Amino acid sequence: MKYFKIEGPVKLKGEVSAQGAKNAVLPIMSAIILYDTPVLLSNVPQVVDVFTMIELLKILGTKVEWKGKNDLLLDPSTINRYTAPYEIVNQMRASIYVLGPLLMKFGKAAVSFPGGCAFGPRPIDYHLHGLTLLGANLEIDRGYINASMKSPTPAEITLNFKSVGTTIHLMTTASLIEGETTLINCAQEPEVVATADFLIKSGVKIEGAGTNVIKVKGVRKLNNLTEYKIIPDRIEAGTYITAGFTTGGEVMVTGCSPIHLEPVIAKLKEAGASVERGNDYVLVKPRENKIKSLQIETQPFPGFPTDMQPQFMSMLSVAEGLSIIKEGIYPNRFAHAFELQRLGAKIKVIEPTAFIEGVEKLTGAEVAGQDLRGSAALILAGLIAEGITTVFGIEHLERGYENFQEKLQSLGAKIQSSS
Ligand code: EPZ
Repeated sequence: MKYFKIEGPVKLKGEVSAQGAKNAVLPIMSAIILYDTPVLLSNVPQVVDVFTMIELLKILGTKVEWKGKNDLLLDPSTINRYTAPYEIVNQMRASIYVLGPLLMKFGKAAVSFPGGCAFGPRPIDYHLHGLTLLGANLEIDRGYINASMKSPTPAEITLNFKSVGTTIHLMTTASLIEGETTLINCAQEPEVVATADFLIKSGVKIEGAGTNVIKVKGVRKLNNLTEYKIIPDRIEAGTYITAGFTTGGEVMVTGCSPIHLEPVIAKLKEAGASVERGNDYVLVKPRENKIKSLQIETQPFPGFPTDMQPQFMSMLSVAEGLSIIKEGIYPNRFAHAFELQRLGAKIKVIEPTAFIEGVEKLTGAEVAGQDLRGSAALILAGLIAEGITTVFGIEHLERGYENFQEKLQSLGAKIQSSS
């Protein structure tokens, strides 16, 4: 396993720029299956999940080429396959996004069921039910979803939960279904709005993205864009400002969208941070000389994001008093809590809630990240723990963070990596 060796404690200071949003580029790359001419995506993060999606699109026949460090050219005109194989889908759940577009392009598709992950089963039942309502016929056989779409039908679909993936997947699929499809109880995350923006610029009439009701007037053919810029990654940016505050330092993240960070900024201010923000930067520094305890419930946007929960748990491990974190999205997303205990954190988990009693300090030890944000959280803890913390499982981190080690080192972190 790849690992980071981190020497703490350090106070981070300086400025980093945000990468492009992993959770916006993945659905937009999938939507390009609906195209038949090349598109140049800019501000694409060089992270493993993007590499996996590139691999999948290539298997389908797409020509893909990096035209610059973060500029990716995709040519879907040569797509000639409609099977998404297990070995790819099992690596990345977002592969499911290709099912609807393949159905609209070929009238059929075979996509493997995705695996689970460290924080429990990651079902796709809402996706499949919605596709059925749009006219798909789905059969499950030997771990594959064998789908056909003989007569695409606009529909009114009420989601059981404000699922990001389901909202995006059904909105994208409905883009080529003539008539009006209405999605109710939609996710409102910025990545939903970004995907809608891409589709609107492709000629689809979409109203209500970012609210809980989205109306899609599908078109027979997209008017193909030739280029599109990906929005900044709010969770990456949130990770750096939280790291800065956790270490008692001062960190500015540029090239980000502060409006997408409001739920995180609100909680950092409540914890004692002073926050300055412009239209594309956030600067966080301590307002007081202690971190105050918090009560947090993760919720769909604009609630506090579950993808920032692990990073906040690291911060609250050394806050003053008792903090409570309740997971409203993934009840068992707490693998990182048991690793933080190895550093001396006092945390009790009674799912879906964690109780964190702040301690004076953490002490360096060996820990292992089990998933993307959990690994980031353990690195944040290593920055404040006294001595050396070895964080194993950096493979998870690389799925969603570009140049994490270099960016932290530019802020003063002392990190050696195994590779
Ligand atoms: C997206 O996952 C993100 N991934 C996740 O980020 C993020 O944690 C999650 O949204 C919540 O914000 C991408 O965008 C690629 P959901 P997604 O559908 O779409 C249940 C990261 O760190 N559910 O909103 O899979 C599900 O189990 C990753 O970047 C069903 O039951 O999340 C969960 O409890 C981790 N059936 C809840 O809904 C379904 O068919 C919300 O999931 C779909 C979801």
